[in-house]
Amino acid sequence: MPKRKSSRASRDFSESPAALVEAARGAAKQAYAPYSQFKVGAALLTAGGEIVLGCNVENASYGVTNCAERTAIFSAVSQLGPKLQIRAIAVVNAGNAPCAPCGACRQVIYEFGPDATVFFLSASGWEELPITELLPHGFRLK
Ligand code: THU
Repeated sequence: MPKRKSSRASRDFSESPAALVEAARGAAKQAYAPYSQFKVGAALLTAGGEIVLGCNVENASYGVTNCAERTAIFSAVSQLGPKLQIRAIAVVNAGNAPCAPCGACRQVIYEFGPDATVFFLSASGWEELPITELLPHGFRLK
């Protein structure tokens, strides 16, 4: 888990990524993953300070599976509206396996958070990266 110094005991998750990671870990418990058994949770922090959770939701027609990150983002739009701005998002596998966001999720994170920070466990440890490093030249229509 990423550790950063903070003098503030606040709900500012950009200063306390561990709390956002723990929220994602909780979300992974809701995952519907009977095909892969790979349960994933995501927790995003909005510009307004709201936390929205998501989990992966699989399907017998594998291709229509929804990843945890996109579940969280689509849920955030449906709850908070289309002006969603993502400040940070944490992604966690329930079994503590490395879990970097997939390419499709990177593009969706970028849509609502071009300046977002992404927290995830890689093969070499916890990462805290700007979405633009995970997705250079993200697609934009305007
Ligand atoms: N999965 C996610 O939820 N997020 C990711 O970033 C990578 C993959 C899910 C999709 C599928 O249900 C399972 O992990 C195995 O691919």
